[in-house]
Amino acid sequence: MTNSSAVLASAYSVKSSLTNDLLRLIDTALKQSSDLVPLTDARYLEAHGIFEGRSNQQQLILEWFGNQIAPTLPQEGVCRVLSVGCGSGVLDVQIATRLVEQTKDLLYVGVDPNKIECETFQRNFTQASLDSVKFEVEPTTFDQFEAECSFDLINLVHSLYYMPDPAAALQKARKLLAPGGRLVVFHAPCDEMNSLTEPFWQKLYGRSTLFAEDFRRLFDAWHWNYERARVDAKLEVSPLTHANQEVGIALTDFIAQIDSTRLDKPVQDLIARYLDLVSVEDENETHISHPVDVFVIVE
Ligand SMILES: C[S@@+](CC[C@H](N)C(=O)[O-])C[C@H]1O[C@@H](n2cnc3c(N)ncnc32)[C@H](O)[C@@H]1O
Repeated sequence: MTNSSAVLASAYSVKSSLTNDLLRLIDTALKQSSDLVPLTDARYLEAHGIFEGRSNQQQLILEWFGNQIAPTLPQEGVCRVLSVGCGSGVLDVQIATRLVEQTKDLLYVGVDPNKIECETFQRNFTQASLDSVKFEVEPTTFDQFEAECSFDLINLVHSLYYMPDPAAALQKARKLLAPGGRLVVFHAPCDEMNSLTEPFWQKLYGRSTLFAEDFRRLFDAWHWNYERARVDAKLEVSPLTHANQEVGIALTDFIAQIDSTRLDKPVQDLIARYLDLVSVEDENETHISHPVDVFVIVE
């Protein structure tokens, strides 16, 4: 090992031990704190929009769909797509725009229990006026969703965290695939930013959330054939440090997945220290690594 790589390895190990210490402190503080306040549907929509607006991840996901999925779609008949946990459709409408370049007719179905997001999905697709795309959105949870057809493509983009039984959701999704259809799961690995969500998730729901590594183990245990790739993205977080209160709070709310303004002050301070520690200064930007893993399962 060269001198500089030894210094880097040692700095990484110090950082990793500090992040673990802070996570333990947050966990302990949360155990003694009052109940957490979850995000309302409207606040979730708002904070998610601000969060995605500062990350290049959706753009990279979109490019991935264009390169990896669009060429595989059936050329004949109607191509049927299901987006599970579609949210506002801000990503889906762009995916549909890419996919429709490759197919004659597209049926794009969204399902999401957040009614405000479903209304926004409806509006986004209507405004996009995509020729030859028929769309519909079901305001319900995936386990309650009753499909009227099978699908050539089923996407779960960052939605499995929220499902009480993600394994059952994956099994259901696979059963809904048409022959030759693809199940695409975008899900975060347990990296620095996402580890911060864990203690809040535990306190709010009394359970852990699953990360990409857990799904890999699940697919292996089920003997499912899959391909896995990493999409490296970054989240620009200067508002956390540079006094844009509103945007900084929205980013914190979305990362911790709670109303962070209702937390005890010591917990707020620990979150700020954690996010500062995992932030990187790069030219005039401050960012946090925001990777996502993608799994593709072909029926
Ligand atoms: C992080 S958002 C992702 C939205 C969209 N896929 C995107 O990438 O922009 C997760 C979505 O999953 C939805 N969700 C939560 N529980 C769900 C469930 N049981 N079934 C389906 N969707 C659910 C949430 O309402 C939320 O809109």
